[in-house]
Amino acid sequence: MTLPPAGQAPDKGPVVAAMFDRIAPRYDRLNRLLSLGVDVDWRRQAVRAALADAPARVLDVATGTADLALMLKRARPQAEVIGVDFAEAMLAVGREKAVRRGLGVELRRADALALPFDDASFDALTVAYGLRNFADVALGLAEMRRVMRRGGRVVVLEFPPPPANLAGRALRWYGRIVMPTIGGLVSGDRSAYAYLPASTEAFLTPAELTAALQAAGFDQVQHRLQSFGVSALHVGVAA
Ligand SMILES: C[S@@+](CC[C@H](N)C(=O)[O-])C[C@H]1O[C@@H](n2cnc3c(N)ncnc32)[C@H](O)[C@@H]1O
Repeated sequence: MTLPPAGQAPDKGPVVAAMFDRIAPRYDRLNRLLSLGVDVDWRRQAVRAALADAPARVLDVATGTADLALMLKRARPQAEVIGVDFAEAMLAVGREKAVRRGLGVELRRADALALPFDDASFDALTVAYGLRNFADVALGLAEMRRVMRRGGRVVVLEFPPPPANLAGRALRWYGRIVMPTIGGLVSGDRSAYAYLPASTEAFLTPAELTAALQAAGFDQVQHRLQSFGVSALHVGVAA
């Protein structure tokens, strides 16, 4: 099976969407397994950051199976929470979870590179582990900025490339050997779980992502490494 390109590429979108559609039924279980459950805490930190200014309308871009969107809604029931993703099977899993948990989030199929929303129509925006999959990161960030009102908070969770130290070597080994093996066994799709760490290695460093957010029109950008740099939380304010 052909892997989608790990970095940016104009034709990447359909391949990525098809890959997430394939792994959707086992995506949540593998997230918990491969992160040893710590991803829940990374998301909790993102929710706190996104809701700090009590937003009325929140958009979760690349929402996948809606873990973050549902946590946002649970933490702030009075907010309107919308999640968008271009992989319909991921959204279907999210919709089932929303019904089961009695949480009213709207989950819509849409491309992050052409968001179907008016300018300045959201008070806060999140994207968790989605950005590195975009065919054009700068365009995705520009779209995010376009739909946010000035002063709104943007929150990005992403896996930075492993650093060039001992911890980074351990992470690379985990990504190159353990993830495809376990991911392949549980999901039946080894190539998807080889793509995910490869896309991490090809992604922007936290400093580069800060610069990209600033270039897209976000101020006061700060980041915090989570779990010794396995994940990174960036927060900014729409300028
Ligand atoms: C690793 S998953 C993350 C899902 C979810 N945010 C989470 O934290 O579990 C990446 C998601 O990004 C979505 N995605 C990637 N590029 C996209 C795009 N251009 N537009 C919409 N969704 C996209 C994929 O379909 C997939 O569901």
